[in-house]
Amino acid sequence: MVSNPLKKLILYRNQRNVFHRLGEFSVENKTLFKAQVVLSGCDKPETCSIVVGEGSVVFGTIYFQRQGAFLRIGRNTFIGESELIISTGITVGNNVLISRGCLLQDHDAHSREAALRRDDLRVFMEGREHDWAHYWTNVKRSPIVIEDDAWIGARAIILKGVTIGHGAVVGAGAVVTRGVSPSATAVGNPASEIG
Ligand SMILES: CC(C)(COP(=O)(O)OP(=O)(O)OC[C@H]1O[C@@H](n2cnc3c(N)ncnc32)[C@H](O)[C@@H]1OP(=O)(O)O)[C@@H](O)C(=O)NCCC(=O)NCCS
Repeated sequence: MVSNPLKKLILYRNQRNVFHRLGEFSVENKTLFKAQVVLSGCDKPETCSIVVGEGSVVFGTIYFQRQGAFLRIGRNTFIGESELIISTGITVGNNVLISRGCLLQDHDAHSREAALRRDDLRVFMEGREHDWAHYWTNVKRSPIVIEDDAWIGARAIILKGVTIGHGAVVGAGAVVTRGVSPSATAVGNPASEIG
C-alpha cells in the first residue's frame, strides 16, 4: 500500500472553507482518485479516512459528516460521478461498478419526528460543534456495504444499513432500503428482487 497523503484531496468545511487533513488517506498504485472530499458538519476530520485499492477509479463527491467516518474501496472498482454521504462508513468491494448519479447515504440526516428536526438547520449553519453528539442521537444511521462484483445502475439510491450482495445488480433509479441477495437483481422503489 502506497500512502499518498492529501496530494489529490480537496478538503474543506462548507461554511468556513478551512482545509483539514484526514486521519488516513491511502491509494494504491495505478489508482485514479478524482473525487472531491467535503467535510460537512464533521467536527473531527482527522478521525475520518479513505483507503482505495489498486486499479480503482473514483469520481464523484464524498461527504464526511461525523467523526470516525470511513470509506473503503477495493481493487478494480469504478465509482462514477455519484455522491457518497457518510456518517459511519461505506465499504465497497473489489470489481464493483457504481454508475453516475447514484446516492449512497448511510444515515437519514434527520429524525422522522418534526420536533426533533426543527433545530437541525440552525445547528448546522451555526457550526455548533458541542451540539453534534445530541444531533446524531436523533438520526438513524448504519454502514453500507457493497460486496465484490456488484453493479449499481445509474441514479440508484442506496440507503442506510444496506448490504448489496456479491455479484448483485441494482437497476437504474432503484431506491434500495433493504439488503440485496448475492447474484440477485433488484429494481424499483422500494427496490425488490426480480431474480
Ligand atoms: C423515509 C425514511 C426516513 C424512513 O426511514 P425508517 O423510518 O428507518 O424506515 P425503514 O427503513 O424502516 O423503512 C420502512 C418501510 O418503508 C420503506 N421505505 C423506506 N424509505 C423508503 C423510500 N425512500 N422509498 C420507498 N420506500 C421506502 C422500506 O422499504 C420499508 O418497507 P418494508 O417494511 O416493507 O421493508 C428513510 O427510508 C429515507 O428515505 N431516508 C433518506 C432521508 C433523506 O433523503 N435524507 C437526505 C438528507 S435531507
